[in-house]
Amino acid sequence: MQDLKWWQSGVIYQIYPRSFQDSNGDGIGDLPGIIQRLDYLVTLGVSAIWISPIYPSPMADFGYDVSDFCAVDKVFGNLAEFDELVGEAHSRGLRLILDFVPNHTSNEHPWFLESRSSRDNPKRDWYIWRDAAADGTLPNNWLSRFGGPAWEWDEGTKQYYYHSFLKQQPDLNWRNPRVRHAMYDVVRFWLDRGVDGFRVDVLWLLIKDDQFRDNPVNPGYDAGESMHNRILPLYTADRPEIHEVVAAMRGVVDAYPDRVLIGEIYLPIEHLVTYYGRDLSGVNLPFNFQLLQTMWNAESIARIIAEYEKALPQGAWPNWVLGNHDNPRIVSRIGPAQARVAAMLLLTLRGTPTIYYGEEIGMNDVPIAPEQLQDPAEKNQPGLRQGRDPERTPMPWDGSLLAGFTSGRPWLPIGTDHARVNVKAFSESRDSILNLYRRLLGLRRSNSALIQGRIDAVGVEENILRYERRQGEERILILLNLSHESARVSHPPGRLLLSTYLDRDGEDSGHSAFLRANEGIIVQIEPDS
Ligand code: NOJ
Repeated sequence: MQDLKWWQSGVIYQIYPRSFQDSNGDGIGDLPGIIQRLDYLVTLGVSAIWISPIYPSPMADFGYDVSDFCAVDKVFGNLAEFDELVGEAHSRGLRLILDFVPNHTSNEHPWFLESRSSRDNPKRDWYIWRDAAADGTLPNNWLSRFGGPAWEWDEGTKQYYYHSFLKQQPDLNWRNPRVRHAMYDVVRFWLDRGVDGFRVDVLWLLIKDDQFRDNPVNPGYDAGESMHNRILPLYTADRPEIHEVVAAMRGVVDAYPDRVLIGEIYLPIEHLVTYYGRDLSGVNLPFNFQLLQTMWNAESIARIIAEYEKALPQGAWPNWVLGNHDNPRIVSRIGPAQARVAAMLLLTLRGTPTIYYGEEIGMNDVPIAPEQLQDPAEKNQPGLRQGRDPERTPMPWDGSLLAGFTSGRPWLPIGTDHARVNVKAFSESRDSILNLYRRLLGLRRSNSALIQGRIDAVGVEENILRYERRQGEERILILLNLSHESARVSHPPGRLLLSTYLDRDGEDSGHSAFLRANEGIIVQIEPDS
């Protein structure tokens, strides 16, 4: 495995810091809390953590509205504690990835306060300001992703500013070289402190049309969808000029050895892969969210694996994601039995897997009562079920009243099933999903074909998804039963390395495998067969 980088051979674990571990009883997770739980992550077997934003923020969008890019919000701790976290993670062999939020700032960021102070302020063009249309209405039809128009009127200077998300999140003007340089300095600030890379927020939205053309109407819009989908984001997303910006950002990161740049990009596969950039000068990993969006059946998953593999540019390293802080949890989407199959899928596909905290214990979405609602995406569009609170609830560490998460009042409710679904209980139970994750991660670490072998023979038989990972003579066959019915499939003779059920490891699987309902198995094929 000599040639691989850590972000190719390892597994990334996403921490939503508000909900991981509280250390001071305010009901919100923090940096000392994360430090306390690093040993757990080591025993789980992941190699890197990515932490959602920890910067000072009015928390209109829970940290994605940053008011100072080079500090830590006091709710999470301080810079000294951050440095301690870097040191503690590194001393355990864990890498640390931060969230970089370049598209927008908080409306309380000093840059925006200056920008809005007058039309001739030197920072005026750090944001996107437009006059009202001739008839006094909005500059164009662009919409906010959190509901309503993307334009907010500023009475003081009599112009509108653009916000892709909340009006408290004005978009920076990435066409302005000064903005770029200031943001690259932010990147260097954290790289100098030892961080191992960044996950870049909404990378595909950074550049907007310079002619401010109206977006086309979406003919397929369904009234139950987010209002934003009424138009197609032709002129507000995935603009051609973005790639030059991404390459420059990559250049900044590459000036430091052994770092990674990951892009958050929600686009169809053929557009997504363009973010690897010409000659791989773009992000190292454009997040691949196909598994979040696909129908959960063997045909659909086989199709996206094949499409993705085919679309990857020469030398590009793939990656897969099952969940994150913006989407319903995998268990709630497909049920606990299939979640075990999903774990095997995630950890045997070719490319870097990212695990969302709690996935390894099969955490469910937690229902949120109206009075507990936090997420502005839901508050702004009530009833549309856009809210992301259910997948952001506190990690249940044990079965006690407050789940070992806090001694105070948790900022979001703890799942009512936490007496059963928690780290402590699952650590002690051999057949828990947590131990399945540990075994899968262990097998992956020790099996070079699973890390760097090519993926081959992707196919479907009945409802069984099958593929092989091959490296030299080594052939690892993965069979995943995506259905609730048992099935038998034939294969070259081999030995069963791991099942999503416990009792089969080491079984001689002969020429065919019997798969129970919702079972996945990994078979090492005998050489020369
Ligand atoms: C993407 C983040 O993942 C999401 O949580 C946030 O609300 C938006 N970007 C806006 O920053």
